[in-house]
Amino acid sequence: MKWWWSTVLMVSIAGCSGGADGPDALAVMEGEAIYRAECATCHGNKLEGQPEWRTPRPDGKLPAPPHDATGHTWHHPMELLLAITKLGMVPPHAPQGYVSDMPAFGGKLSDRQIQRVLLYIESQWPPDIRAQRIERFGK
Ligand code: HEC
Repeated sequence: MKWWWSTVLMVSIAGCSGGADGPDALAVMEGEAIYRAECATCHGNKLEGQPEWRTPRPDGKLPAPPHDATGHTWHHPMELLLAITKLGMVPPHAPQGYVSDMPAFGGKLSDRQIQRVLLYIESQWPPDIRAQRIERFGK
């Protein structure tokens, strides 16, 4: 089992556009710190999201979805996750005029910090999900 896990890890490292230093344990730790500071209030300490996250609230907005294996974050390619985190729920990722609580982090976090926080989220997905992503997206 161990060799398989490290193969998955290596493939995802090789597939990452993260730059020279690559996603090492330190980068994941930095991502976790950013997650706790910027994302956990809505997406949950354990990436569990908000209750009833599929049901719009009375104001029409959706609660924050989980980023763990029960959510749909892992269904999306990394490019899309980076874009949503940076720009928020705007076209082409959402309809024109769509109203959402998801902030645009572009003015607050650097691209590198956004990559790291998503790297942390990715690091929490179980091996079978990571393997499915490699099959679907090549990374
Ligand atoms: C103020 C609450 C709030 C904060 C803080 C927040 N989000 Fe969100 N996020 C949401 C909501 C609500 C949605 C669902 C948007 C929708 O569909 O209307 C969402 C959706 C998303 C999505 C797209 C949905 C998916 O599962 O693919 C991503 C990616 C995401 N958030 C990442 C982050 C990251 C990374 C952070 C921290 C840097 C963060 N969010 C911080 C509320 C928040």
